[in-house]
Amino acid sequence: MAYSGPFQAGDRVQLTDAKRRHFTIVLRPGEVFHTHRGQVAHDDLIGRDEGSVVRSSLGADYLAFRHLMVDHVLSMPRGAAVIYPKDLGQILIEGDIFPGARVLEAGAGSGALSIALLRAVGEHGRVFSVEVRDDHLAYAIDNVEQYFGTRPEWWEPKLADFGQLTRDGLGGPVDRVLLDMVEPWHFFDTVCDLLLPGGVIMVYVATVPQLMNTVEGLRETGHFSEPRAWESLVRGWRVEGLATRPEHRMNAHTAFLVQARRLADGVTPPQPQRPARR
Ligand SMILES: C[S@@+](CC[C@H](N)C(=O)[O-])C[C@H]1O[C@@H](n2cnc3c(N)ncnc32)[C@H](O)[C@@H]1O
Repeated sequence: MAYSGPFQAGDRVQLTDAKRRHFTIVLRPGEVFHTHRGQVAHDDLIGRDEGSVVRSSLGADYLAFRHLMVDHVLSMPRGAAVIYPKDLGQILIEGDIFPGARVLEAGAGSGALSIALLRAVGEHGRVFSVEVRDDHLAYAIDNVEQYFGTRPEWWEPKLADFGQLTRDGLGGPVDRVLLDMVEPWHFFDTVCDLLLPGGVIMVYVATVPQLMNTVEGLRETGHFSEPRAWESLVRGWRVEGLATRPEHRMNAHTAFLVQARRLADGVTPPQPQRPARR
């Protein structure tokens, strides 16, 4: 897939009309996009720069850009709820997903996190996306293939229960583990076994009881640094002269994020010294 340059056949393109309505098409030579305001020939876009305006047969104008990853994630079909872009960004940075990393995620769900991870690790990395439900894995595979235009060679989608994974089955330990499932704390022993010392685990959970079980579960293993937990709130702003103000509506809560590092085996991290009470 192309990320920039003039439009090519096969590009997924978002057309926006004067009322800011979006329409997504995949460019195919000779094909026509039918709107209630006339037809747009795909050939009128192929070879033109992104950000061009194309006119329909009835004179309506459409602004054309390639789909960004966020557009794809928010519009793709879902079997399970996706991780939203604001949290995907946090996971990539706080989870320290680096080019060439071996990354394990579960459950794959609809494949939103898989797409973000695959882009971040690049072709020299490896992403294992584990999913226990075959119908959800089918969504993930379809959404990843639609986004990249093919199945990335550095991706291994797996139909399996996370608890059944072994180092041998993954071809060795991994650098990063990302869990987005209902009861991740049941699988922390498996994570301890699969994650390299110094490796990062990140967990995405929606409710307060899940957050408590996650943090307490990580502590109980004795194999992780003190977990950090947080949520991020993103509020859009409407900028229009003296009427500039925050948007009335926002996605106030998506989920909590928890991050910890795998300790070397057999170590006890230093604890803060408390002054003795008199
Ligand atoms: C909320 S979805 C994940 C969404 C995904 N992160 C995304 O961005 O599209 C949670 C998924 O975890 C899967 N799951 C739950 N328990 C699992 C397990 N033990 N092993 C593998 N997958 C599991 C569920 O079937 C479900 O598809």
